[in-house]
Amino acid sequence: MAPFIVYVLLSHLSIQSSGYIQANEEGFISGVITDKGLDYAKDFLIEEGIGSFVQLQLPEVEKSVKVPLVGNAKVVLSNITMKGIEVNSSSVKTGESGIVIAVSGATANLSMSWRYSVSSWLIPIGVSDSGTATIKVEDMQVGLTLNLKNQEGTLKLFLLDYGCYVRDLSIELEGGASWLYQVLVDAFEGSIASSVEKAITKKIREGIEKLDSLLQYLPKQISLDRTANLNVSFIGNPVLSNSSIAIAVNGLFTARNEVSVPQAYPKEFVISSACGGLPKMIKVSIHENVFKSASLVYFNAGSMQLIIDELQGKTILNTAEWRFIVPQLYKSYPNDDMQLNITVSSPPVIQVTNQDIGTTIFVDITIDVLEDGEVIPVACISVDISASCALEIVGNRIAGRLNLQKFYTYLKWSKIGKLHMKLIQALMSSALKTIIIPYLNFELKRGLPLPIIDGFAFEKANILYAPPWIAACSDVSFLGDYYLHQQATHLS
Ligand SMILES: *[C@@H]1O[C@H](CO)[C@@H](O)[C@H](O)[C@H]1NC(C)=O
Ligand SMILES: *[C@@H]1O[C@H](CO)[C@@H](O)[C@H](O)[C@H]1NC(C)=O
Ligand SMILES: *[C@@H]1O[C@H](CO)[C@@H](O)[C@H](O)[C@H]1NC(C)=O
Ligand SMILES: *[C@@H]1O[C@H](CO)[C@@H](O)[C@H](O)[C@H]1NC(C)=O
Ligand SMILES: *[C@@H]1O[C@H](CO)[C@@H](O)[C@H](O)[C@H]1NC(C)=O
Ligand SMILES: *[C@@H]1O[C@H](CO)[C@@H](O)[C@H](O)[C@H]1NC(C)=O
Repeated sequence: MAPFIVYVLLSHLSIQSSGYIQANEEGFISGVITDKGLDYAKDFLIEEGIGSFVQLQLPEVEKSVKVPLVGNAKVVLSNITMKGIEVNSSSVKTGESGIVIAVSGATANLSMSWRYSVSSWLIPIGVSDSGTATIKVEDMQVGLTLNLKNQEGTLKLFLLDYGCYVRDLSIELEGGASWLYQVLVDAFEGSIASSVEKAITKKIREGIEKLDSLLQYLPKQISLDRTANLNVSFIGNPVLSNSSIAIAVNGLFTARNEVSVPQAYPKEFVISSACGGLPKMIKVSIHENVFKSASLVYFNAGSMQLIIDELQGKTILNTAEWRFIVPQLYKSYPNDDMQLNITVSSPPVIQVTNQDIGTTIFVDITIDVLEDGEVIPVACISVDISASCALEIVGNRIAGRLNLQKFYTYLKWSKIGKLHMKLIQALMSSALKTIIIPYLNFELKRGLPLPIIDGFAFEKANILYAPPWIAACSDVSFLGDYYLHQQATHLS
């Protein structure tokens, strides 16, 4: 993710301190990276950075120096290789003007080869020697200031300021003449230090460019199935406060095959970045309108329909079986197969409550008789179903589970006279419990993908209900370098 993961030299950050975040209007899915999440992101970035420094080769340095008693020496340092870096302390701070990451007291080891040749009137025959040395960087400071801006629906990462400063460095010579040690310290210390600084700042610039490319690579919409897309275009600029970063995406479902008609939804967005006292890295808030847009898209696509011609996988529906429930039906159509056409008659009503999501689903169940290859609708029963939907995080998706609360049936129309509603009610109850609710739960299990960068996973997520929002508070874990490296290959 590093996308959600983000990042002076502690300059002046104007600090805005409030536990509330003004979400960007029209962003129906919002993500907040908390201070814990920022720490995680910082550590992740530093680790990735260190990984990219190791085995880094610094350019060769060559100097001619006058050495008393020895003469003119041409000294070449080559194969200067970064062996390892250790970071003692680091910090991340956010403010309105950016994100500052600072590393202090870092140490590093480098290895190098040296060689020299001397010629002078004293030693007419050229003298030369070569060997290796170790360089220890004792105290290094690294800092960078970043900012995130929305550019036409994608996030752009800006590196505003960065620097690396080597405060102290020592050299251990393996072999060689003692004058060489003095030459290395006097003539080369400064250039080795600035070479290290240059190499590290260059890597920072490249690393941030790579991270920015990853952000550019994020989709603006996710295709969910044949019917719907999820619009994950970023809305507005990320809001940086003193301990968190808030971002928002459009978050609405749109129909795949139609020109989308923008829906007007009310805007009243102030969301809390708190996770009910739980220290979590991120909080993803989903507005009720996301579910409403899903309801509308699937309803309009006509995909809320189910034809059933057998019960529980065994009994074929037949008028003969129904002769006690609907005798008139048996009289008109003796021993004919039947089917039930279950159609949702208007977009399900969805409302986030304090403990779940309340839904009301309006269903028309048409009883069809199949006679000589013809479908003859004979009666229609309407059912208003009230159900609650509990959410859970499964992998990186948010999935739901419906619980039937109550239902109400009435006869909409009939070509076979009055029906025995008590019996119909009992029949519907069984159809709801054994067919309709399990079917809907099967569909809901697929869930909605939460916007998170590939390669990262939610961990120990909790769901909070704060009408009209629901929120998932979670930690994040990194699954492996595989994805990032793949992306890097793509991009280079
Ligand atoms: C950030 O703001 C909170 C109040 O929301 C305050 O307690 C905290 O000290 C602030 N942190 C910094 C570093 O200013
Ligand atoms: C450069 O240094 C590495 C150790 O850091 C060593 O393995 C390698 O052989 C050296 N290369 C040359 C050309 O000396
Ligand atoms: C540098 O080398 C020393 C000894 O070889 C080792 O103890 C230390 O951990 C190394 N430091 C880094 C940053 O690799
Ligand atoms: C790390 O930093 C702390 C505080 O600045 C210091 O006391 C400690 O000696 C440092 N450790 C190393 C290994 O440099
Ligand atoms: C997705 O959301 C963005 C931002 O709200 C909007 O400009 C764009 O038109 C939307 N795309 C679709 C296909 O609705
Ligand atoms: C099912 O019933 C609906 C009306 O409730 C009707 O529009 C649709 O065509 C029917 N489907 C089938 C396959 O009979």
